[in-house]
This record gives sequence, structure tokens and C-alpha cells, in this order.
Amino acid sequence: MQVPGPILTVRGLCKSFGGNQVLKGVDLEVRKGEVVMIIGPSGSGKSTLLRSINMLERPTAGYLSVNNHELCWGTDGSFQVAPERDIRKVRAKVPIVFQHFNLFKHLSVLENLVQGPIHVLGRSRKEALATARERLAAVGLADKGDAYPAELSGGQQQRVGIARALAMHPDMILFDEPTSALDPELVSGILDVIRELADRGMTMVIVTHEMSFARRLGDTIHFMEAGEIIASGSPQELFSGNGSARVNAFLNLIAPSP
Ligand SMILES: Nc1ncnc2c1ncn2[C@@H]1O[C@H](COP(=O)(O)OP(=O)(O)O)[C@@H](O)[C@H]1O
Ligand SMILES: [Mg+2]
Repeated sequence: MQVPGPILTVRGLCKSFGGNQVLKGVDLEVRKGEVVMIIGPSGSGKSTLLRSINMLERPTAGYLSVNNHELCWGTDGSFQVAPERDIRKVRAKVPIVFQHFNLFKHLSVLENLVQGPIHVLGRSRKEALATARERLAAVGLADKGDAYPAELSGGQQQRVGIARALAMHPDMILFDEPTSALDPELVSGILDVIRELADRGMTMVIVTHEMSFARRLGDTIHFMEAGEIIASGSPQELFSGNGSARVNAFLNLIAPSP
């Protein structure tokens, strides 16, 4: 049996903002088809890690390979970053779905979905529109193509954010707390959309505070604190209560056991 290689390899990744070291040597591996959850307290560097994976933040040391492109390597003295065209290739195929949606407010929903395919992937407008309509239907918004983001609920805007990622024919999707800006009644609909993507085999890295979701859907869960992944394992391992005291304390704080 052929074992697929990792689609994402992160080794010793560091990132500092001025004197503030936010990532302190992160190791992470993701395989094709895997759903990886990243949990941990606010300010621990989860968003910085996700943004570094497609170089929206530029790491300061460490090794990063995404979708068969090496994006950076080396340590402080010899640190190097791949050419911009490699970075753009990775971004095109490994989109991020953001907490605050980050839609183009002055463009209709359909126009939001066709920008990347036309300008980044070089698809024809006709083809891009056909894919956009299909992806909108897949997230339950077939009738909202002509709406503007401001006319939609937060949950609908996040569906558009997910449809926009899907319109890029992604090889992996990064989610940065996709439900944390939503009213509670809108959360489960978005989690359902992500669950369907998992069922269809989409590779995903998901930063989330939704513990029961992480537990049910994650193949692997990583716990991040103060710029490091300090515990990793299957949901069973991490939620068993037999792991580190720090992880148990966090889990009890945010999802107390009944
Ligand atoms: N652009 C930035 N400039 C300076 N500091 C930043 C920037 N982005 C994040 N940080 C700092 O990095 C730390 C981790 O932030 P973040 O990655 O957003 O954590 P999390 O997503 O886990 O809440 C915080 O202390 C934050 O203030
Ligand atoms: Mg964050």
C-alpha cells in the first residue's frame, strides 16, 4: 500500500514580532485527507501559525513545506524564503477561511467567488461563474449570488467565505476559528458545512474553540500554548483526562465535563 506523503510539514517554525517571540519552534505534519484541529488559549499563536503556513506572516526561522513547495528553511543566520511565485502557488491551492470572513464588501457574492479563479488560477469568466454557482449551492446559498455581503447574516457570510475557498479547487483548507464571530444559533450550520467537507475527504487544518466539534471530527488534535504545541494526539488520547495536567485544565475550563 502506498502511504501518501504529508501535504504539510512544519519543523521548528519560529516567528517573532519585534522582540516578541510568538512561535517558538512549532512541529506539525498533515497528511492528505486528514482533519487536524488546533486548540489552545487565546494569544497562544494559533492564528500566527495558520497565517505563517501560507506566508501571510513571514516566519523568522524553521522549515515549512506546503503542497510540495518548500516555502522557507534555515535558522536565524541562514534563513531563506522561497520565491514569491512559489508562495502564490501555495496560497492559491491552500486558502484560509477567516474568523471575520474577509469578503470584498463592494462586490456581490458571485463576484467574490470568481476573483481568485479568474485572476489567480487564470480560469475564464464563464468557467469561474459556473464553478462559483456550484460551490454556492453546495453551501446552501444558491439564491444569494447577486447579494452583497452586508445583506447577509454572519452565518451566510461565512458560508460565502467557505464557498470562496472551495472555488479555488483547494488541496487543503485552513480555518481560523470559523465560527467564533457568529451568533450561537448560526454556529451549528457552519460546523455542518465543514463536516460535509470532511466526509468528502477534504484536507483541513481547523483552529477552533468548539471542543465537541474538534473531538468528533478531528483525526488529530494539537494543543498550543505560548507559541508551542505542547500536546498532540487522537481525540480519544487528548480528551481522555489521562494526558497533561495543563491540557486537562484548559479542557475543563472551556468545556467542563458533566
Ligand atoms: N501583526 C502582529 N504584530 C504584532 N504582534 C502580533 C501580530 N499578530 C499577532 N501578534 C501577537 O502574537 C501573539 C499571538 O497571537 P495570535 O497568533 O493571534 O494568537 P491566537 O490566534 O492563538 O489567539 C499575541 O501576543 C499577539 O499580540
Ligand atoms: Mg486567533
